[in-house]
Amino acid sequence: MTDEQKLNPAGPCILVIFGASGDLTKRLLIPSLYHLKRAGLLPEAFAIAGVARTNETSEAFREALHASLQQIAEEPLDGSAWDWLASRIRYLPGDLDNPQTYERLSALLKEIDGTSGTAGNYLFYFAIPAAAFENVAKRLGAAGLVNETPGHWRRIVIEKPFGTDLPSARELNRVLWQHFQEDQIFRIDHYLGKETVQNIMVLRFANGLLEPIWNRNHIDHVQITVAESIGVEKRGSFYDATGALRDMVPNHLFQLLTLVAMEPPACFEANATRNEKGKVLESIRSMTPESVKSDVVRAQYSTGNVNGQAFRAYWQEPHVSPVTSTETYVALRLMIENWRWAGVPFYLRTGKALAVKKSEVIVRFKHAPFTLFQDTPVEQLTPNDLALMIQPDEGANLRFNAKVPGPVMRIGAVEMKFNYGQYFKTQASTGYETLLYDCMIADASLFQRADNIESAWRIIQPVLDDWSTPGRDKLPVYAAGSEGPAEADKLLQRDGRTWRRLAPKHEPETS
Ligand SMILES: NC(=O)c1ccc[n+]([C@@H]2O[C@H](COP(=O)([O-])OP(=O)(O)OC[C@H]3O[C@@H](n4cnc5c(N)ncnc54)[C@H](OP(=O)(O)O)[C@@H]3O)[C@@H](O)[C@H]2O)c1
Repeated sequence: MTDEQKLNPAGPCILVIFGASGDLTKRLLIPSLYHLKRAGLLPEAFAIAGVARTNETSEAFREALHASLQQIAEEPLDGSAWDWLASRIRYLPGDLDNPQTYERLSALLKEIDGTSGTAGNYLFYFAIPAAAFENVAKRLGAAGLVNETPGHWRRIVIEKPFGTDLPSARELNRVLWQHFQEDQIFRIDHYLGKETVQNIMVLRFANGLLEPIWNRNHIDHVQITVAESIGVEKRGSFYDATGALRDMVPNHLFQLLTLVAMEPPACFEANATRNEKGKVLESIRSMTPESVKSDVVRAQYSTGNVNGQAFRAYWQEPHVSPVTSTETYVALRLMIENWRWAGVPFYLRTGKALAVKKSEVIVRFKHAPFTLFQDTPVEQLTPNDLALMIQPDEGANLRFNAKVPGPVMRIGAVEMKFNYGQYFKTQASTGYETLLYDCMIADASLFQRADNIESAWRIIQPVLDDWSTPGRDKLPVYAAGSEGPAEADKLLQRDGRTWRRLAPKHEPETS
């Protein structure tokens, strides 16, 4: 969108939040709706109906949301925006396992339609535990709440995780299709709500500079990192049943990978983009039990220190089995077998309790073909890296070589830096604003299509299968606060490469 293009508010609708008393609603959904109101993107005829088991009144529910919004907000709240939103919030206590909850919900929605002009358009947001997705979809269908009639739309938003492996993802899709058309289903991956993730497409497809070099002829390899400095905190039982691979790779890391690797779509229509992403996933070389052993590394954090804070080992964390085999770190080497990327490895890594919190994509270019500088073999020159920084720093850096001033010919690596916050005046945002607005206007570009989800699980299923084989060796460990396990370094060293450091030293690299 250019500055001149202004977005219109979404059309009339009710947002029904299942799981309204939960963390996601408080921390992300309500703040996003408040931001959308301030941006003028919510319709006058708008309402929120929150559903959860906690027995409370609409009044108490609004007060609790107000208190948490005040806590989260970086600046004093805009009272009139909050009052506008609060006056549209209703709460319905009820168990989603009980069919009567849906009858009462249906009556509430009709009442709101009658008083607020919301026109029978409903967006059902599943902010509930993943184990409840299928059941709630079935009950919504049975209650007749999702049948669209001319001029009245019904949509659902499904949170992550979408399945825990390929069979469960397929089964969830099958259940959803019994009650919904594919275009009614919005499978969310909140990574796609981040400006910097969306910027990968703009960077690639709005700059003639990059297009000619974005391929195997010029790119040596790509590194995709999503590093967290926190441990499992209070989520031990969830995490121990999930692990780093399931939690991060088929969703967030593959989103980054597909955006970096896909061909330009024919247009910016949802299916055109999703088709291109799907082709990338389908081109990833299938893993075998042998390649899982050679190309995938998993590990657990042991005791250590992150930013001055002492960490216990993962297996000592509350609600984690002392003999756990769940990985808190995973690194993979993937090959995309198509014309653009043949021979270019994509190295992915993600983990908890690492030195820093950092999400970034490093595109490493090949060395210059030969060097004019006698004492500096070309392999010793620091390679050119394009770093796409997702969080916490947001922007893009280009690293290249320059002459270090002085009478002696010395070459040093320098950086050209673009920082989002410094360049653009950005508004406070959670990353969910665009996604919520897009659901209301039926733009599915930033949502996952069923086949894309299944392709992602298909890629990692051999890893899950291999890891579930009994009799495995003990997992490697890495100290909390480190850059990850030595085994992950070896994965790249074997190919004559190294990871870009998570916490780089600040002196310039010279050769
Ligand atoms: N929180 C995040 O940052 C985040 C980020 C990405 C994805 N997600 C996903 O979003 C979903 C919600 O996460 P969350 O962190 O908000 O979880 P949460 O804090 O545990 O909240 C779960 C909500 O679901 C409700 N609920 C559970 N079973 C119910 C039932 N049978 N009937 C009615 N309500 C029921 C709970 O209501 P009561 O407590 O009143 O019983 C509560 O409101 C999960 O799928 C999660 O994976 C969360």
